[in-house]
Amino acid sequence: MVFEDLRDYISFLEKNNDLIQIPDAVDPYLELTYILDREEYSGRNRSILFENVKGSQIPVVGNLFSGDRKMEWILGQKPYDIGMKLRNLIRPPDESDSMISRGLELLRELSGLRPKMHNSLPSSMKVLDKVDLDRYPICTTWPKDGGPFVTLPVVITKNPLTGARNAGMYRLQKYDSETLGMHWQIHKGGSQNMQDSREEKKIMDVAVTIGTDPLTIFSAVAPLPDPFDEFSFTGLISGNRVDLVKGSSVDIEYPMNSEIVLEGYVDPTETRIEGPFGDHTGYYSLEEEFPIFHVKRVIERKNPVYPTTIVGKLWHEDVAIGKAIERMFLPLIRLQIPEIVDLNTMEEAVFHNMVVVSIKKRYPGHARKVMFSIWGTGQLMFSKFVLVVDDDINIHDRKQVIWAMTTRVDPARDITIVPRTQTDALDHASEMFNFGSKVGIDATRKWKEEGFTRRWPDVMEMEGEIVKRAEALLDRFNK
Ligand SMILES: Cc1cc2nc3c(=O)[nH]c(=O)nc-3n(C[C@H](O)[C@H](O)[C@H](O)COP(=O)(O)O)c2cc1C
Repeated sequence: MVFEDLRDYISFLEKNNDLIQIPDAVDPYLELTYILDREEYSGRNRSILFENVKGSQIPVVGNLFSGDRKMEWILGQKPYDIGMKLRNLIRPPDESDSMISRGLELLRELSGLRPKMHNSLPSSMKVLDKVDLDRYPICTTWPKDGGPFVTLPVVITKNPLTGARNAGMYRLQKYDSETLGMHWQIHKGGSQNMQDSREEKKIMDVAVTIGTDPLTIFSAVAPLPDPFDEFSFTGLISGNRVDLVKGSSVDIEYPMNSEIVLEGYVDPTETRIEGPFGDHTGYYSLEEEFPIFHVKRVIERKNPVYPTTIVGKLWHEDVAIGKAIERMFLPLIRLQIPEIVDLNTMEEAVFHNMVVVSIKKRYPGHARKVMFSIWGTGQLMFSKFVLVVDDDINIHDRKQVIWAMTTRVDPARDITIVPRTQTDALDHASEMFNFGSKVGIDATRKWKEEGFTRRWPDVMEMEGEIVKRAEALLDRFNK
């Protein structure tokens, strides 16, 4: 399934009884977001369309990604199957393939890869007479937030040296009717483009789209290697080329199905305090200096809808997005770290704060090799704790993970602390902002080749025949 735009997705949700439409007046200051929060906490996870938001003519929609079911609708397939499909793309032809059939298969798979470029806005979109961010129902989520934040934007920039486009989701704090805080963290694509622009002494063009089709919003969050274009990624997954239109005042292209587009610039030499903001971690992330986005022009579709999301203490829709990313990227991570059997970025640990990985151990010191590979792979570099276990452990079962960690580890020997390294920007416990330490725990069975001189005990297992007989007997009493 491919949703043409946000509206198409909203109608689909309505048809599938997954949308509440609230006609009552709701305050974008704390109230609206708390309603979204309660719906997610209830586990019903319905999306909500707020038709009457105080202080704005524009409706707000939220909880667009909450729950695995929605993620599958948006992606059109199970995330893991998409990962396998992507992995298959780089498979060399095997003997059963004719070159023609393999070539045709690749052409089919890659058909959506290249976005379609348009030079002028469609008639459904128009440039507004003036920039006025006050017209938007930008929400304040938590009481100690530094102000209202745009929480579901797709921020588009270009690298000044290569021209490669990047689209990332970075929150935007509203400072006034024309300026926003640009929270791209130092390790992310937008920030890299800004650093290069600073070196080139260039002001950066930026376009922000608020409300495109949900797959494109997902692509902006996906940890794609730079310089892989996020719109190509959308096309690759959906099989349909994304329609992009050239910005009217910036040298940036953005999706033609956008509800609201902000065109403007970031001066790489300029910063301002951003935050606090109730973050994915369940804490308010502290105020820090971040760049400023000056909005110069606003483009809107007729009767736009404004999408929002909330993050905070578990569980929110970022968990569904994060888990979809984990499953989708696992087959691709295995290309680089083939010994990985399974990987679990733990949502309780805000994903990257604790990554558990199971491996088929083949040589002495293998677990440590895997830890360092994880720290060297894309956004897995943020993993604060990496726990490596053998492949007899189901790493999605917390009980088994704790059992392995506590029974296969001698702390002095098996814990590796990596001091003075980069950390995730949201890690408030690290020694400094963006800088601290990491822990790797080798919870695999120890080998004599690793200097382990004692005998490693067998795990208790019942013999097969007895299991069968006992189960058959009990079954008779369970009918
Ligand atoms: C709801 C939500 C909000 C996010 N906010 C930010 C943010 O403010 N700053 C940031 O650097 N990353 C944020 N992220 C994570 C990035 O979108 C993610 O790391 C993405 O891969 C970045 O793309 P890039 O690698 O092209 O920079 C957010 C993710 C989600 C799901």
